[in-house]
Amino acid sequence: MKDESRIEKLRSLKAQARVGGGDERVRRQHEQGKLTARERLDLLLDKGSFHEIDMFVTHRARDFGMEAKKFLSDSVVTGWGTIEGRLVYVYSQDFTVFGGSLSQVHSEKICKVMDMAIKNGAPLIGLNDSGGARIQEGVVSLGGYADIFLRNTLASGVIPQISAIMGPCAGGAVYSPALTDFIFMVQNSSYMFVTGPDVVKAVTHEEVSFEDLGGASVHAEISGVCHYVADSEADCLFLMRMLLGFLPQNNMEDPPFVESSDDPLRSELALDSIVPDNPNKPYDMRDVIRMVVDDGDFLEIQAAYAPNIVIGFARLGGHSVGIVANQPEHLAGVLDINAAEKAARFVRFCDCFNVPLVTLVDVPGFLPGTTQEHGGIIRHGAKLLYAFCEATVPKITVIIRKAYGGAYDVMNSKHIRADVNLAWPTAEIAVMGPEGAVNIIFRKEILKSVDSESKRADLVEEYRDAFAHPYVAAGMGYLDDVIEPHETRTRLINALEMLSNKRDANPAKKHGNIPL
Ligand code: HXC
Repeated sequence: MKDESRIEKLRSLKAQARVGGGDERVRRQHEQGKLTARERLDLLLDKGSFHEIDMFVTHRARDFGMEAKKFLSDSVVTGWGTIEGRLVYVYSQDFTVFGGSLSQVHSEKICKVMDMAIKNGAPLIGLNDSGGARIQEGVVSLGGYADIFLRNTLASGVIPQISAIMGPCAGGAVYSPALTDFIFMVQNSSYMFVTGPDVVKAVTHEEVSFEDLGGASVHAEISGVCHYVADSEADCLFLMRMLLGFLPQNNMEDPPFVESSDDPLRSELALDSIVPDNPNKPYDMRDVIRMVVDDGDFLEIQAAYAPNIVIGFARLGGHSVGIVANQPEHLAGVLDINAAEKAARFVRFCDCFNVPLVTLVDVPGFLPGTTQEHGGIIRHGAKLLYAFCEATVPKITVIIRKAYGGAYDVMNSKHIRADVNLAWPTAEIAVMGPEGAVNIIFRKEILKSVDSESKRADLVEEYRDAFAHPYVAAGMGYLDDVIEPHETRTRLINALEMLSNKRDANPAKKHGNIPL
């Protein structure tokens, strides 16, 4: 064969690989408002940075006439590229080839980039669009999934792992994303379920649509499986790029420093009056966050799930931080099962990847009642406590208003190794709120009193004066300072810089036993 024809053959094979399952299936993919596996990578990665590997791989199945149905690359595109110049490893499942289902070679291709990502210390991004195990390959496909799950688990806490769900993902196709750090979904075109609507109907006789079983809204609002819902695939890929900007490449690095024109000494006078005089009146904690962080940029995570706690990434003086904040606008910012789990996982992520934690507190306590108790609030609330206790990254807390009961301890208090604890003058720190406290400790006096309501009101006022402020805690050294709200940004940036060489460690152990 002449040199020229060898090159032509190579080009033709690569061109063949690039069309995936063929023009007709690509057309169907586009008709459903979905991009192809390679189009997605073009949008995700810096222009021209993608290096594809394993294009010549084809499946090895023989049953069901599969020998005659082979596609170069099989059903996944793998390789590496850059995002804002930083290396990432990627896989992108190709729904146009056997519905993106996972064959043995599909799994081998993913495992190869996973091994490279772990060895070379760079994030792994998975774009998932798959019907699950390749039915024609049987147990080989199940084994392939397990090979991926093992690597997801070993990579956890070593490199950031981010998943996008970009089509109907069923069976094994949802468990690998579930083991990763963040899951993005696309409104109206991505679905996640262990078994699809047909199987549900056969087993339980329940009739349910794709959307109601495992659509983006379900997982963003009800199950908490999904961290971010995008309106389109392009938005989804853009948001993934943004998220990576806050993260280090691996657990041995610090997150990137991003110079900002926002003055570190900027004082925000509006903060001085943001907390209403009436302690029962809400305000939006996200306003506080946006006023404090660089350029008002806050990437909120899991916004629609357990909105009584707010989590997300921002920068302060160019330093990436993870923010955990009670949200008085929802359920008065109370801690419940979902909020505790949501925040605990986020705290642990930040701790894995050297992202300092900033905690903003306005919490009336844990949500009481049988639903919470029977649901295991003790076990789930303990997750957040455990996560904050265990974290060794720089930890800064600002008590904005309420910090009552166990929730005071949990929300990154001094006692559980927070480094800098500040409070606004509006802070109220005590075992419980004035009304609850008075009803318990003065029950007899109130009952005996001729005018019990006015007696109760007097006692509440007395209790408020004695305890509903930050100065008892400050007097004990549990707070390092009480600050004027407009100073918050400056004080946080100063604290972060002061803590930039922090070294702290936990006792040597195989691993702890977080109350799962
Ligand atoms: C092989 C598959 C496939 C699969 C889809 N295809 N799923 N091929 N194995 N698992 C093929 C179809 O034959 C079809 O091929 C093409 O992909 C597109 O599929 P359609 O059904 O036409 O697409 P759509 O109507 O959009 O439906 C998508 C779907 C549906 C919802 C994903 O295909 C489906 O329900 N698939 C099966 C899902 C499933 O139960 N998977 C196994 C889960 S068990 P042609 O040639 O026509 O283009 C599992 C175990 C792992 O994963 C557990 C580990 C913990």
